[in-house]
Amino acid sequence: MNFYSCRKSILWIFFLTLLTISFAPVHSQINVQEIAEKSIGGMSKETDAYIEQLVKELSLTEKVALCHAQSKFSTKGVPRLGIPEIWMADGPHGVRAEMSWDSWNYAQWANDSITAFPALTCLAASFDPQLSNEYGLSLGEEARYREKDVLLGPGVNIYRTPMNGRNFEYLGEDPFLASKMVVPYIQGVQKNGVAACVKHFALNNQEHWRDIINVEVNDRALYEIYLPAFKAAVMEAGVWSIMGAYNKFRGQYACHNELLLNKILKIDWGFDGVVISDWSAVHSTLEAALYGLDLEMGTGTDGLGTTTDNHYEQYYLAKPFLKALKSGEIATAHVDDKVRRILRLMLRTNLNPHKPLGSLNTKEHQRVARKVGTQGMVLLKNKNNFFPIQDQKNTVIAVIGENATRNMTAGGGSSELKPQFEISPLEGLKQRYKNATVIHTMGFESGPSVYDQVIPGRLDADSLRLKAIAFAKKADVVLFVGGLNKSHHQDSEGDDRLQFELPFGQETLLNKIHQVNKNLGMLLLTGNAVEMPWLKNVNGLLQTWYLGSMSGHAIADVVSGAVNPSGKLPFSFPKKLKDNAAHYFGDESYPGDGVNQYYKEDILVGYRWHDTKKIKPLYAFGHGLSYTNFKITNVKTDKQMYSPADTLAISCVVKNTGSRDGAEVVQVYIGKPDSKVKRALKELKGFEKVVVPKGTSKKISIDIPINTLAFYDESRSEWNLERGTYVLFVGNASDNISKETKIFVE
Ligand code: GLC
Repeated sequence: MNFYSCRKSILWIFFLTLLTISFAPVHSQINVQEIAEKSIGGMSKETDAYIEQLVKELSLTEKVALCHAQSKFSTKGVPRLGIPEIWMADGPHGVRAEMSWDSWNYAQWANDSITAFPALTCLAASFDPQLSNEYGLSLGEEARYREKDVLLGPGVNIYRTPMNGRNFEYLGEDPFLASKMVVPYIQGVQKNGVAACVKHFALNNQEHWRDIINVEVNDRALYEIYLPAFKAAVMEAGVWSIMGAYNKFRGQYACHNELLLNKILKIDWGFDGVVISDWSAVHSTLEAALYGLDLEMGTGTDGLGTTTDNHYEQYYLAKPFLKALKSGEIATAHVDDKVRRILRLMLRTNLNPHKPLGSLNTKEHQRVARKVGTQGMVLLKNKNNFFPIQDQKNTVIAVIGENATRNMTAGGGSSELKPQFEISPLEGLKQRYKNATVIHTMGFESGPSVYDQVIPGRLDADSLRLKAIAFAKKADVVLFVGGLNKSHHQDSEGDDRLQFELPFGQETLLNKIHQVNKNLGMLLLTGNAVEMPWLKNVNGLLQTWYLGSMSGHAIADVVSGAVNPSGKLPFSFPKKLKDNAAHYFGDESYPGDGVNQYYKEDILVGYRWHDTKKIKPLYAFGHGLSYTNFKITNVKTDKQMYSPADTLAISCVVKNTGSRDGAEVVQVYIGKPDSKVKRALKELKGFEKVVVPKGTSKKISIDIPINTLAFYDESRSEWNLERGTYVLFVGNASDNISKETKIFVE
């Protein structure tokens, strides 16, 4: 072949290739076959065969109908083939009351009141994975009994800023703690034949501008901080569904995001379940079809979008999707992959003949709710042994604050609940203290919890304050019950907090009470850190979270000393807001500029920031006091030299040197001071909660796979385990290390 004809054939090949690429559907580069193949294998061969048979029998119209809502919280089945509807319900710490068919109003059923469990920050603070499994099992039993196929929780978005309205629903600032706590919870829920739906995937770390903000964060922080809890949910817990987030990530909405959903979730992690959109979080038929969404919910509904007639047919994955499939603009393989996943979800839930019947409002569920409360409460300060408060005759205990009586299961947004009962802190204390006299006054009043509205209280603030001061004057002990309250801007979905300090005039009230009675302690009901200029005025400070149905009993257990507190903070309390990493970098870091937001703190979130930048927090991640004292000694590793495939076993002895039985959480942080890349000073890589009776010691051992010390190498887009020396920090808080020791990785 001479030069000329050779050149001609090359040109022809080039031209033909160009032609093929230009006429192929715009998305031919997406390998939906690989996505589908990666999802096979999670169930039996018979099940997969049955699914394939159904996919063949379903018409295109029926397939499309499976991919979107038919009502606010349900999707259509295929009666012709005996395929049922899927019913979903919020939320992460209890089964939400029945909603109306097509509005955000409650259906006012008489049989849907439930057990409200403590919010997930409390569960995280327990540092007890076994307890998390009990929590998930009980909650799943209630969801099953209420005949829900999908429970829309847990939420595992990382606590990046104390202003985020929904932090109370999540598991704190550390990806390792969140991962260890979310896996048993999901396993517990799904044991009931109810799908957990881990959310909000991903980078929904604030409520302000949540439905439009585009989050920019580098790969290291993405893989090391924001994805691990979701990855554990998928690869360790085998979660059956996941909810896409409202926000954008790198310019694409999270609910149809090629990198997050197709690449990371479905191909890299092999997720075989269903990606469900957040409500009204879908914005494009083509993107929803191609970039990983399987089930569209909540579009065009009042409160979250415009309502039009029979809007369920107008959904992005309804008529427009059917049209694009019929025209060939979108390959049928895309709808088939969605349908396979939805059928797989059904065979695990509503088509699963072996699932238990569930149960509701049982003593066991109330026991679990109370135990999570007592195990998750964190004793932050206890000067002069303010806590526990003795139950003595002729003692007057003044309980002051609206939060002592306020219904805290209401409000907060989609996680709000209708409990069969809710024992308030005051009720719990009154029932518990038989000898002392418990008196109460509001002290301050905030107004009702209403979604996205602030409705002020009606009562006169000055008169409330004067009465509170009069009560404090005549009391032997003052217990202030304050904090936030899940009303709008006060730990609630839909928007963030507007102030770091306590609202409703609580600071002034606290300081005035202190002027008349120095024997003052505080119960802090929040799901977030708050500023504490008043801290010097309180002797005792107990972080009590939002505790659900059994609040008052759990609080009375710890305040009276019936239970020795053992909770540890799952997030840092900065002294000032600007000490927090996200706020250090100004508006473009938080809350963003209304379009984009840049996570400029990179991997240094929470204690990683405080430790590395030497900015002392008010209370550190992992901090929590006890009514007894512990010593951690004899810290030993099983070897000095490890290979990448090894698992490090680190042991120690926990000695209870005090006068009461108690539980301690041994925490193991690991750092690499001479690393070739930027690293936090230390990162949590292991923990163990251990009960140690008074006067005794317990030896524990914690296993840490060496490969978990790897960092995410952006230059190679994979995890990279550095050889060399690592430092192990063993203690009972990130700022209270008992012993450091070194190991070597070859
Ligand atoms: C809400 C929340 C989500 C919830 C869903 C249904 O907007 O973001 O967590 O599950 O809509 O209520």
